[in-house]
Amino acid sequence: MDNKALLELSDGLKVELPILNGTMGPDVLNIKDLYKETGLFTYDPGFVSTASWSSAITFIDGDEGILKYRGHDIADLAEGNNFNDVIYLLLYGELPNSEQQRNFFFKIGELSKVSEQVVNVIKAFPKTAHPMSILIACFASLSALYHEKHGNNINSEDLNFGISAIAQVPAIIAMIYRHVNNQEFTRTDNKLSYSENFLRMMFGNAFDSNKSTLFARALDKIFTLHADHEQNASTTAVRLVGSAGSNLLASLSAGVATLWGPAHGGANEAVINMLNEIKQSGDVDKFIEKAKDDKDPFKLMGFGHRVYKNYDPRARILKDICDKVLDKLEQSNELLKIAKKLEKIALKDEYFIVRKLYPNVDFYSGIIMNAIGIPSNMFTPIFALARTTGWVAQWYEMMNDKETKICRPRQLYIGK
Ligand code: CMC
Repeated sequence: MDNKALLELSDGLKVELPILNGTMGPDVLNIKDLYKETGLFTYDPGFVSTASWSSAITFIDGDEGILKYRGHDIADLAEGNNFNDVIYLLLYGELPNSEQQRNFFFKIGELSKVSEQVVNVIKAFPKTAHPMSILIACFASLSALYHEKHGNNINSEDLNFGISAIAQVPAIIAMIYRHVNNQEFTRTDNKLSYSENFLRMMFGNAFDSNKSTLFARALDKIFTLHADHEQNASTTAVRLVGSAGSNLLASLSAGVATLWGPAHGGANEAVINMLNEIKQSGDVDKFIEKAKDDKDPFKLMGFGHRVYKNYDPRARILKDICDKVLDKLEQSNELLKIAKKLEKIALKDEYFIVRKLYPNVDFYSGIIMNAIGIPSNMFTPIFALARTTGWVAQWYEMMNDKETKICRPRQLYIGK
């Protein structure tokens, strides 16, 4: 379709703006030449109405609550595929056949060794450090090892740098966990799946085989659900840094820093802290009232989303996993009860209905990780572990896009 929009300015100047059609989702008004033709910039704080890139990786329909990776529905992937398959899918565009699956499994194993330099970075941090601060430093340190590989002229060999980050991040995060908890590091076991290996590196042989299987499966699904989410803040940070030609690992470090914020990935830790506070106070309604009070900065953590104006499909799947894990553990979990009560009240409340605020991915994930025995300060690093794949896939796509330019927004100057 050759659609155009006509912009008429007050001085009578008329400009035609092309409308671009994606394969799904809203059309996009192309304002690329607007400044050249009119001398005007657009103003869009927080990029609420801005499509910053074209991408073929992840599709979200926020009104319908749909999320797809490379055309595959997230619920099908979480149910029918393991995380290794999802990594392959996000990076290469197709699910692997059995030979590709086997080869990719070995490749991840081969690239998983963490260098002494990164181990030393972890050890240099005080035990009191937040694990996310250590993770930022680990990625920054990895960028020294891959220093010679800057952006531009990217080919499939360069993707190996990204795959090595994906392969190493479980071991790095397990080491961070063990460091801040005064425990010896454990070895990787590349015969295990990605999630089993991670669980083993975190907790050694602490669980019997039933529990390890249950927990590894739950983690595997958590990884799948968090792996990518189109142009979210951390992915945008990775793309922005990469657009300047900086090296991939340095770009990933910016992604980790961005994800840490409580409005983004840091919300999973904030949710558990909030649920614990509610548990102590015993008063769910008080927290609902605080969230609705526009003079109070408090927000219901794990609620609301820039894109979803419907139930986040990831939250629905996580709620189900949560029930299954706690059921199998025969645990009656007070935090889950509070979370469900909170959700029930909020979804009937005018304030949340009008603003279309629903539980998001962070609302239930922490309860599952909590049941596994993962402390809350490790929740966001685990989100980062999963999102590393999305960051790498998005970076690689951007580097191969001939339209990529250094990201350089303009401003509305209001100073002296
Ligand atoms: N509790 C109470 N009110 C809320 C909430 C909430 N969690 N979220 C949004 N609102 C209100 C907000 O105050 C505003 O009200 P009004 O129109 O009266 O000013 C309205 O809803 C629209 O919100 P917004 O802040 O303009 O929306 P946004 O798209 O800029 O922010 C958000 C989205 C996710 C940052 C926000 O909903 C939020 O802070 N939620 C809590 C933190 C959270 O759970 N973050 C995880 C997001 S999902 C995972 C991820 O991205 O990593």
